[in-house]
Formats: sequence, C-alpha cells, structure tokens
Amino acid sequence: MEFGTYQGQSIVYAHHERELLKSNSQSLFGISQIYAFDSFAGTGGVVLEEEKGPFKNGDYSATSSEFESYLANKGVNPNSIQIYPGFFQNTLTSMIQEKNKKKIQ
Ligand SMILES: C[S@@+](CC[C@H](N)C(=O)[O-])C[C@H]1O[C@@H](n2cnc3c(N)ncnc32)[C@H](O)[C@@H]1O
Repeated sequence: MEFGTYQGQSIVYAHHERELLKSNSQSLFGISQIYAFDSFAGTGGVVLEEEKGPFKNGDYSATSSEFESYLANKGVNPNSIQIYPGFFQNTLTSMIQEKNKKKIQ
C-alpha cells in the first residue's frame, strides 16, 4: 500500500519487486495486490495551514491519467494496480468497508 503515489515511481518499483518475487519459486514472501492511494491533487487542500511546512497547495500533483501513463510507459499495466483516487480519509474508509463486506459474505 502506498499513501501518496504522485507520478508512480515507487509503485513501479513495487510492481517489479512483486514480479521478481513471483518468479522466485523459493521465496516465502509474495505481494498479491498493490494498492495506490492519492487525491491526484498534490499537497495541501485538506491540511491545516500550520501543518503544510514548506509545501504549497498543488505541489507534487500528478493527475490520475498522468499517473497511469507513467506506469504504462514503465511497462506496468495500470489495471494490475488497485487505485483509490481521493483523499485518504475517504478512500481508506471505503476500502476497509469493502474488505469487511467480503469477509462477512
Ligand atoms: C511528495 S508526493 C509523494 C511521492 C511518492 N511517494 C514517490 O515516491 O514518488 C505526495 C503525494 O501525496 C498526495 N496526498 C497528499 N495528501 C493527501 C491526502 N490527504 N489524501 C490523498 N493524497 C494525498 C499528493 O497528491 C501527492 O501525490
């Protein structure tokens, strides 16, 4: 899970790590799903003025299509990543609810 993916550099590394672990049949560890959380609006917006530090509203913003293009250009199919667009306080809650619903069924 990555909270704050920006253009997707770390997600690309995570994807390649997942592929490497998959191809290593000796490995005890594996990554089944990669979750990407981002508002795609950059820094600021929901942060209190005094918590912003050196960042301005909109710094580090990459749109979701820029994110998906970056992945595709690096050979990563965006459909292989579970993307949660929106602010963490909303998307994390809905993801937990989805998971709990699946457990109950
Ligand atoms: C400094 S960048 C992250 C860089 C990234 N981890 C990397 O390795 O390239 C911060 C990211 O967090 C996202 N972000 C900041 N606050 C957020 C919030 N409350 N909810 C969702 N995304 C947020 C911004 O949109 C931005 O893409």
